Amino acid sequence: MKPGKLKLPELAAMKQRGEKIVMVTAYDAPGARLAEQAGIDILLVGDTAGMVVLGHEGTVPVTMDEMLFLTRTVARTVQRPLVVGDMPFGSYHVSDEDAVRNAIRFVKEAAADVVKLEGAGPSLSRVRAIVSAGIGVMGHVGLTPQSETILGGFKTQGRTASKARQLLADALALEAAGCFAVVLEAVPVPVAARITEALTVPTIGIGAGAACDGQVLVYHDLLGLTEGGAPRFVKRYAKLADEIRGALKTYADEVRTGAYPADEHTYSMPDEELRVFSQSSAAVDQAVDRSFQTDTRAKPARPEDGSASGASESVEHAHRDS
Ligand code: KIV
Repeated sequence: MKPGKLKLPELAAMKQRGEKIVMVTAYDAPGARLAEQAGIDILLVGDTAGMVVLGHEGTVPVTMDEMLFLTRTVARTVQRPLVVGDMPFGSYHVSDEDAVRNAIRFVKEAAADVVKLEGAGPSLSRVRAIVSAGIGVMGHVGLTPQSETILGGFKTQGRTASKARQLLADALALEAAGCFAVVLEAVPVPVAARITEALTVPTIGIGAGAACDGQVLVYHDLLGLTEGGAPRFVKRYAKLADEIRGALKTYADEVRTGAYPADEHTYSMPDEELRVFSQSSAAVDQAVDRSFQTDTRAKPARPEDGSASGASESVEHAHRDS
């Protein structure tokens, strides 16, 4: 374990002290570094990467290899925050053995501190198996995006008394199975409050109200990197998409007008070296072998230099013909 790493018992102690736990998703080194500098406690390398980083519509297509790649990047960047590797769809659904094998990959190959998986029911034996292998597990109930299809979409969960009772039972069962914390996603405030009161381990809410022991948001949502409609629990603390687009547009304009690069962005060379280079550069130009054929060469030959070969002429023709 890295020196200064936030330890799991400290999370339970924070709950006891009524100190809120702050979690955010992270997928790359700059994001992880900034989150640590901002004092974030837990970095979840979430399978939301599928949507906010990899361009999928949902989280289901995300693979173990993709998650390991992202988790490794975050884990190597930070010291104190706990790094949670989110087990992707399919990595723990078939058997306890599979779940343990993949959880071990997160810890061994990607240096995750712990893992997270979704659901209760069949996930309970997975949690027990992974915890028995010595790896901490964060649970996740309520809206579990990997089950989006059977849940009927990204919808609030636990809005009837019987569904709320089931959520409470699931959260308690996850704690009993060994989870060190449980994420509650898109759950009515009183249900999340009751679960938080019933559990000794912390609850981390996302769309579950202020009574939870901690909160998590997706990095790209809270920074305004995602645009358009968002779930009502998303608060945008910045408008980075506007900033980034504006900066990129200015860059493009400046390249096109020649305003960038200016003198201060360039390198010079000693005058004497420049004089020698200028005298000798024509010889280099003439010595270049241009026999390799490529359609992308803009101006392959300079007839006035007397350097045009048959091969480069044919490239020129190819250009003219296209
Ligand atoms: O994958 C993820 O980012 C998550 C959070 C939304 C809790 O599971």
